[in-house]
Amino acid sequence: MRIGILHNRITWEIKEIIQILDKRKIDYDLINNQQIYFKLTREEPFKVHYDVILERSLSFLRGLYSASILEAKGCKVINSYNCLNNTGNKLLTTLRLIEHNISTPLTYVSFKAESTIEAIETEVNYPAVLKPIIGSWGRLIAKLEDYNDARSNLECRELMGNVLQKIYYIQEYIHPQDPTMPTDLRVFVIGKECVAAMGRFNPKDDFRSNIALGGSAKGIVLNDDIIKISLNAAKAVKGEIVGVDLMMKENNLCVIEVNGTPQFKGITTATKINIAEKIVDYLEDKYK
Ligand SMILES: Nc1ncnc2c1ncn2[C@@H]1O[C@H](COP(=O)(O)OP(=O)(O)O)[C@@H](O)[C@H]1O
Ligand SMILES: [Mg+2]
Repeated sequence: MRIGILHNRITWEIKEIIQILDKRKIDYDLINNQQIYFKLTREEPFKVHYDVILERSLSFLRGLYSASILEAKGCKVINSYNCLNNTGNKLLTTLRLIEHNISTPLTYVSFKAESTIEAIETEVNYPAVLKPIIGSWGRLIAKLEDYNDARSNLECRELMGNVLQKIYYIQEYIHPQDPTMPTDLRVFVIGKECVAAMGRFNPKDDFRSNIALGGSAKGIVLNDDIIKISLNAAKAVKGEIVGVDLMMKENNLCVIEVNGTPQFKGITTATKINIAEKIVDYLEDKYK
């Protein structure tokens, strides 16, 4: 078996996967998409045959377009271009979730500051959450407490943002239910299985619970409700290896986002479950 690992930086996650591949004597190549070029012809296959290519780029767009080219050349890429496109863009993720009747926070999209404020004040009310449609690690996600917050955040985006930041994705704020409970849950899905889950707690002064922003985490026990909504969400975005973020809205689980290139250092540490090993198990099982 031969595996390609598409990346633009060797992350902790890639090192973990390599360790398992070496141990099992599985052939692999590290394909740095910043050091190669692709010839866009249909006749010419990619220079090496891989049974499967694991997409692990930190750069979303480079990973996305590499996947689309490799698929056009007949390669099997995980996650697929379709999944990366659905998950890398929160607007598209929301559309896939509502298409599949999966509970998610009420979300509004607008393209101008005025219409965004109108959406907030007539539909969402304050506090509202403003998110970039492409982004991760909690970056640029703002909790808008009142008109002045909304105005200044939108003004920054209108005057300083790039074209993507002028697409306003506004969500109802999910109020934390109980301070002893996690702010949100991260469930790691591989194939048709939820292999690990952790609860994340936001740091004292920030509503966002991303580990990259100082959130803390501990392993949780999966139950049927968590498993069901996580597998449904993975299926809705056509994901094979994804991280599903869940929150509790009025005692019901809802999906906040689905991550198509999920990091797994945090969840490995919190749960002591060897995610890299589970990923390699899956690749061997399905693509050998
Ligand atoms: N609608 C919301 N209400 C309350 N908190 C939210 C909401 N959406 C996101 N958050 C918080 O912000 C964090 C980051 O949001 P998320 O949508 O997962 O974006 P990212 O892709 O940057 O991780 C979540 O983990 C959660 O703690
Ligand atoms: Mg998230």
